[in-house]
Parts: sequence; structure tokens; C-alpha cells
Amino acid sequence: MTKKQIVITGASTGIGKALALKYGNEENTLWLIARSTDKLNKIVDEIKNNGGEANSIPCDLSNTEKMLEISQNIEDRSGGIDLLIVNAGYSSRIFYHGNDNIKEAQKMIDLNFLSAIIMIEYFVQKMIKKNSGHIVGVASVAGFRGMPTAGVYSATKAGFATYLEGLRVSLGNYKIDITTINPGFVDTPMTQNKNNPKPFLTTPKNAATMITKAITKKKKRFIFPKPMIFVGWFVRNLPNFLFDYFGRKFASKLNK
Ligand SMILES: NC(=O)c1ccc[n+]([C@@H]2O[C@H](COP(=O)([O-])OP(=O)(O)OC[C@H]3O[C@@H](n4cnc5c(N)ncnc54)[C@H](OP(=O)(O)O)[C@@H]3O)[C@@H](O)[C@H]2O)c1
Repeated sequence: MTKKQIVITGASTGIGKALALKYGNEENTLWLIARSTDKLNKIVDEIKNNGGEANSIPCDLSNTEKMLEISQNIEDRSGGIDLLIVNAGYSSRIFYHGNDNIKEAQKMIDLNFLSAIIMIEYFVQKMIKKNSGHIVGVASVAGFRGMPTAGVYSATKAGFATYLEGLRVSLGNYKIDITTINPGFVDTPMTQNKNNPKPFLTTPKNAATMITKAITKKKKRFIFPKPMIFVGWFVRNLPNFLFDYFGRKFASKLNK
């Protein structure tokens, strides 16, 4: 049996880790990327103990040069990737009363937008050559509108989702699938350190189950959990005066 070659970025915690454990079986060879070597090694051990095959690829993906280096290494060692899941992400609130807004903005843009797109551009060239492959990008419902104290994060996710849409229609003649995932709130280290309300919060394990189903069905766009489809539509269509009223209230509450 030929094993499916799967790359997952941001595989050391949260949604990425849950996806790695879900795909970590005898049918697949996994290439797991994140910065934390220890966490990746533990996940690789767990997958191997369950009869799967996985490789730990430590890398700071915000360094585009390093990201391209490891991407080429994975491509060479794997003989070609079947499924690329670009999941790594960073989110931070910007309050505009500190000095770290530029540094934080840069971190989000470098990882969530720049590196994510360049990595896809690298692997898509390889997929085009064999005319097969599936690229999955993890965006966010936070990208549906400029969220209070999260304008940069929202912009990186909206931009990433727009890029994926453009890629999907550009690749119309190839047998390459593109799936955009828009999670609502998932209980991961990313959300655990933020004290805002998290309606319809779900676990990483549930998230991974829903995401893998959407991938199998080759969905173009997937929003979860289900109520977020309605919430997302509502937020997108809220008139500016109401969006600003509630957004400003929320921002000043978080600012306290
Ligand atoms: N949780 C939610 O409610 C939610 C909602 C919507 C969208 N999302 C999106 O879902 C994705 C996964 O998030 P999560 O909730 O699972 O968050 P998480 O638990 O914080 O996971 C983020 C992952 O990205 C990796 N990462 C961060 N910076 C990196 C860097 N510079 N280079 C390489 N890897 C890096 C982290 O590993 P290291 O620290 O080891 O590098 C970790 O594996 C993100 O794109 C996030 O924006 C999450």
C-alpha cells in the first residue's frame, strides 16, 4: 500500500496536534512542523506506538528562508506531498496603548499570511507537476470582519482565505483541491490565554474530526461548529453603525 504523505504545520499543540493524532495511522506518513522539538517528538512517539509513521520537523516558519529549506527537504524525502495542511498560526490582541504593536503585528503577518502563502506556492508547483494534491488552509471566522483588538489577526486570516479562493479558481484545470477551514472557538493554548467570551467552544479533538471529514469530502470552504455559519453570516452583514457600536464597547471592555 502506498502511504499518503501529509504535512501539518503547527502540529505541536491544539488543532494541529489533534489533526496529527487523527491522521497518525498505518495509511499515512506525517511531516509535522512547529518550533517546539520536545512536543513534536512526543507526538511522533505516540503515533509510532500506534503503528503510524511520523517525522518531527522543528522550524520557525516565520523565517521564510528556513521554511523553504525544510519544505524542499520534506519534498525530497517524501517523494511528493499528497496533503498539505497549513495550520500554524499566532494571534495576539493589540490595544494601542503599549509599545509592542509593531512587533506583534509583524509576527502575525509573517506567520499567518506571508509564510503560509509562500509555503503553499512552493508545494503547489510540485503538485502541478504530478497533477494531484490537496491543500488545506486554516483561516478563521475572525477573518469575516475586522474584530475589536484583533484587526491585524483578522486581516491575516481574511487575506489568507482570499488567497486560497484565488488559488482554487486559478487551478481549475488541475486535479488539485483547495479547502479553506474557518474555525470558530476551539479550546487550545491560543484561546486559553484570552478571557473573552467563547461561544460554541469546541475541543481540538472534535475540531479535528470535523476538519478531517471536510477534507475527505474535498469541501471548498468549511465553517465550524455549525452555529458559527449563522454567527459568521450575521457578523458579516451587520450594518457598520451597529458593528462599530458593539465592537467599540467590546474593545474598551478588553482594554480594562
Ligand atoms: N483556537 C481557536 O479558537 C481558533 C479559531 C480560529 C482559527 N484558529 C486557527 O487555527 C490554527 C491552529 O490554532 P490553535 O488554536 O491550534 O493554536 P495553538 O494551539 O496556539 O497552535 C498554534 C500552532 O502553531 C505553531 N506555531 C506558532 N508559531 C509558529 C512559528 N513561528 N513557526 C512554526 N510554528 C509555529 C505552534 O507551535 P510552536 O509554538 O511549537 O511553534 C502550534 O503548534 C491557527 O492558524 C489559528 O489561527 C484557531
